[in-house]
Amino acid sequence: MCGIVGYVGRQKASTILIEGLKRLEYRGYDSAGLAVLQGDGIELAKKTGRVGNLVKEAKKHRFTGTTGISHTRWATHGGVTDANAHPHVSSDGRIALVHNGVIENYLSIKKFLIGKGYTFSSETDTEVLCNLIAYHFAKATKTGDESHFLGSVRKALRHAEGTYGIAVICTEAPGELVAARKGSPLILGVGDNEFIVASDVAALISHTQNVVYLKDGEVVHITPKEFSITTLDEEDVEAVVDRVTWDIEAAELNGHAHFMEKEIFEQPAALENSMRGRFSEDGSTAKFGGLNLGPVEFRQIDRFVFLGCGTAWHACLVAEHLIERFARVPVEADYASEFRYRNGPLSGNPLFFVMSQSGETIDTLGALREAKRKGYKVLAINNTVGSTIARETDGGIYQHVGPEIGVASTKAFTSQLLIGAMLALHVARMRDMSFADGVEYVNALKGVPDLVRRVLEQAPHIKAIAQRYAHHTDFLFLGRLSLFPIALEGALKLKEISYIHAEGYPAAEMKHGPIALISEKCPSVFLVPKSEIFNKLLSSIQEVKARRGPTIVIATEGCEFPPGLADELITIPDCHEAVLPIVATIPVQLLSYYIACARGCDVDKPRNLAKSVTVE
Ligand code: AGP
Ligand code: GLU
Repeated sequence: MCGIVGYVGRQKASTILIEGLKRLEYRGYDSAGLAVLQGDGIELAKKTGRVGNLVKEAKKHRFTGTTGISHTRWATHGGVTDANAHPHVSSDGRIALVHNGVIENYLSIKKFLIGKGYTFSSETDTEVLCNLIAYHFAKATKTGDESHFLGSVRKALRHAEGTYGIAVICTEAPGELVAARKGSPLILGVGDNEFIVASDVAALISHTQNVVYLKDGEVVHITPKEFSITTLDEEDVEAVVDRVTWDIEAAELNGHAHFMEKEIFEQPAALENSMRGRFSEDGSTAKFGGLNLGPVEFRQIDRFVFLGCGTAWHACLVAEHLIERFARVPVEADYASEFRYRNGPLSGNPLFFVMSQSGETIDTLGALREAKRKGYKVLAINNTVGSTIARETDGGIYQHVGPEIGVASTKAFTSQLLIGAMLALHVARMRDMSFADGVEYVNALKGVPDLVRRVLEQAPHIKAIAQRYAHHTDFLFLGRLSLFPIALEGALKLKEISYIHAEGYPAAEMKHGPIALISEKCPSVFLVPKSEIFNKLLSSIQEVKARRGPTIVIATEGCEFPPGLADELITIPDCHEAVLPIVATIPVQLLSYYIACARGCDVDKPRNLAKSVTVE
């Protein structure tokens, strides 16, 4: 959680650091700060709250230096205070450091350092690492070791347990920056005689599209002219420079009020990108380049296991439904965070898929590593090229939806639903699905961007409904079969961005408990597709109405409802079962978005949350 930006070059570092922080703010927004090497000291500004507060604070300083580090925090150790904000400076004033992650053994190191005379002005685990580097630096200075800045960072990190992405500067190493990672993302942007390290490509893309994705255990040493990468054990690492395929436009609002709004409306194009080039020439199945598995191996798989967190887990649940329905292979969808510790029995030949937009979610990464430790093949459905999950899996499917910046996932979710549906087809066609059914399925998938466009046209109608219901403090979202996960997703979206209590349930389960909540104060959002269980869903709506509960019904065009049953009606086009979850998601996204706007919430940066959860 949190964003790091570091700069070494010829330009004024503070300008580049603040610009970078603004682009990373979605990763954490408890506090922000920057430190720049200047004269023979460190110029430091930090402040609780958003980057905007830091900008005001920075005006009280005169930043001129060309080497610096910065941070936007999502607090783990110590409250949200100016003192706990990063960068932290060692008590001898020589080292400044920003950190993303958690140093688990910080208490024992702190005790050791206090014994050596170091003092602490924050409650963070980070300040401990900063002073530990200063301790090794001071020791090396005494012995006259030449490259002791880099060496002291490496020595300190060898003692640090936990996770980190760090950027460090030193008053006695002007123009130098050392950065390292273990468990937290860090990317090096390689410019023309300038270098930027950042937690995310978005912070450096306006300066360069040439990047090096650092790996766990690697340390990069940067000067204005060059960089070199080594391991903690001082072995040289050959740097691979990749080129980022999207540009700065993709990370800008382009006239939208929020990234969430932009990303909701981008979905038709995002879905096109996720399926481009992924159908067979005969138009009867989906094909994926990166699975590294042939039909024979696929037919031997006796169970699929899908793992993810939050919204990605909802996409896993839909994949479970579609693969079981169309390919008739058992599927288990589990929270990655539970799977990694549960140690449940597995079948003889399962295939694992992890789903993750960011590719950095620590729980998903932990589950992936555990499955691999057990000797299983793990593939990923992932949106972030070069991410840790992308690197550690045995193959997978990139989503290609461009950067998702709104904290609430939208376009990445529908793209995961689409890829799950394509995977169901891929497996089904290797088993019992006929050629004709395959062609029909493919055509349905190809038509999904247009269906989504049609639902998006109803945005003004959904906005008006949202404004009428925005004052409520409890909501139920109810759906069945493949739309039960969409009910969960609707409730999660509403909770995340509007702070309204909401729960998702299978509609028939409502009468086993949640019905106790129903009153005129608790609206229920029903997902009602045209299907063989339409009448059962109608009965559930009746039960809510009988208890004076307001009803917002999202139903297939043409479905008839007895008068008074649907207080509000939002329609979705009739569509193939494989794409129904995607089409039904759009209204719940819009409803949550407009409710949050009506309540004046900060949609893109909801309280307590951060875009990617890189701590356990
Ligand atoms: C989505 O709206 C949430 N912010 C959250 O549940 C998210 O989906 C989850 O943290 C998983 O993230 P990932 O896809 O990047 O792994
Ligand atoms: N553990 C550190 C802190 O609480 C870093 C948190 C972060 O990743 O922002 O300050």
